Amino acid sequence: MKFFLDSANIDEIKEIADLGLLDGVTTNPSLIAKEKAQKNFEKTIKEICKIVKGPVSAEVISTDYDGMIKEALKLSKIDKNVVIKLPMTPNGIKATNYLYKKKIKVNVTLIFSVSQAIIAAKAGAAYVSPFVGRLDDISSSGLDLISDLSEVFMNYGFHTEILVASIRNPIHLTESAKLGADVATLPYSVIMQLFNHPLTDSGITKFLNDWNKK
Ligand code: E4P
Repeated sequence: MKFFLDSANIDEIKEIADLGLLDGVTTNPSLIAKEKAQKNFEKTIKEICKIVKGPVSAEVISTDYDGMIKEALKLSKIDKNVVIKLPMTPNGIKATNYLYKKKIKVNVTLIFSVSQAIIAAKAGAAYVSPFVGRLDDISSSGLDLISDLSEVFMNYGFHTEILVASIRNPIHLTESAKLGADVATLPYSVIMQLFNHPLTDSGITKFLNDWNKK
């Protein structure tokens, strides 16, 4: 399972890269705005691409087809690892298909149903991003969607990777792994939570106490 960091914060990206855990990065307009990097969007993506030697998702903000393509072609020139993130709309799907034919990778974002994921896969998306946390927020099961997607993608041998997004806790990650999801994009805080276990902490304390006994 690949780990992407869901962040546009350079310090966080460097820290997770230093741990050797970083396979890629996903950003979105909200994450870029959190870093106040809207005006330096392309520069920020370039900087991220220097740190991570894997896919870096950069999302367009246009909602019309021509605007999406214009932004996508510009972003794709930043680095060979840039993946264009497009929203799950008819224009987003039309643009996905165009970019697929140009051999530019697309991550179709804001996926909330199996039917949306099938459409994105048929259009040639390299990744689909189902948002588990936001589904849980409206009392629908995000993990049920991952289970259904794993089954459907397996049935048809789609090459599109399931990139689990909107992960809020370690259970989202471990259950997605059990279901065979290809990628998890995790906020920094959830990656750090993955390390924790009280028995690890008490075990270290006991080992050190025993070592220091006279
Ligand atoms: C995915 O690529 C999105 O950036 C992200 O996972 C959304 O997460 P949120 O629902 O916590 O905003």
